[in-house]
Amino acid sequence: IKNIAVLTSGGDAPGMNAAIRAVVRACSFYNLDCTGVYRGYQGLIEADFEKLDARSVRNIINKGGTFLKSTRSEDFKTKEGRKKAYESLRNNNIDALVVIGGDGTFTGGQKFSQEFDFPIVGIPATIDNDIDGTDYTLGYDTALNTVVEAIDKIRDTASSHNRLFLIEVMGRDAGDIALNSGIGAGAEEILIPEENLGVERLIDSLKRSKKSGKTSSIIVVAEGDKSGKNIFELANYIEENMDEYEIRVSVLGHIQRGGCPSCFDRVLASKLGVGAVEALMEGKTEVMIGLHHKKVVTVDLTTAIKGEVKLDKELRRVADITSV
Ligand code: F6P
Repeated sequence: IKNIAVLTSGGDAPGMNAAIRAVVRACSFYNLDCTGVYRGYQGLIEADFEKLDARSVRNIINKGGTFLKSTRSEDFKTKEGRKKAYESLRNNNIDALVVIGGDGTFTGGQKFSQEFDFPIVGIPATIDNDIDGTDYTLGYDTALNTVVEAIDKIRDTASSHNRLFLIEVMGRDAGDIALNSGIGAGAEEILIPEENLGVERLIDSLKRSKKSGKTSSIIVVAEGDKSGKNIFELANYIEENMDEYEIRVSVLGHIQRGGCPSCFDRVLASKLGVGAVEALMEGKTEVMIGLHHKKVVTVDLTTAIKGEVKLDKELRRVADITSV
């Protein structure tokens, strides 16, 4: 392998820049060429490339977002689009690809790799932490800290006005952000996509905590929660079924995806970026580089994509105990 291309795709995540930097620097260290691909798979199709060297990635380890930009390419989902992408790579003498993103990115990458027998290694990056085979995805730690900081601020106003706040956090299919930020910020209730405890139970529990002396309450709701109601409908339901609180809703939204990566994410990005280049040099393909029990590991893309991310029952237990 002489020339490795790197791209970011799907929802951005803090730490993507640090991962690109690590890939570029590892290529430089091992005397390989490195090519940056702008706008994810769409840029691959359109040959939106730039040669990167060790100095091209200076001053980005601390920056949120991705300087290579990101897209969710519809064209890459077609055979024709992938064929064009392959031609772009061949025309530019690129012989391997590092894709930084989540399960959509890995699914596209795996399909491409199988169709054209092209070496691909993935780096897990999504604030949702919903990839199997790695303990952490890039961006998750930073997002968690952003969320906790935001909830702390909301708590100040909630307690000043004796209000109940419903706070929506990201997580379409995984409750990691909700459960961990909920524990970290001392939420009374946490609703996540992995379980549906029922809205009646929620009312009972809120009434109980009010009786026990609580004067304000925070409920963290993952966007993919399974109550069957969106956060505004939930607020109405609570309002109709208990008059103890004035209720407000706060949707944190995309602030969760921005900001400087935490030190944890920067170090993780550096380890995974180096791991990705070394895996390609060892002839590995269709794998993700992850972190398990503090060690850099290689995981089949199939496992990473299809694996089931389960509810951490111990975390749920701790949340229930500490919110009495
Ligand atoms: O990055 C993952 C995620 O944050 C999900 O939790 C969320 O549903 C989604 O991205 C929203 O992304 P976008 O606004 O880019 O479509």
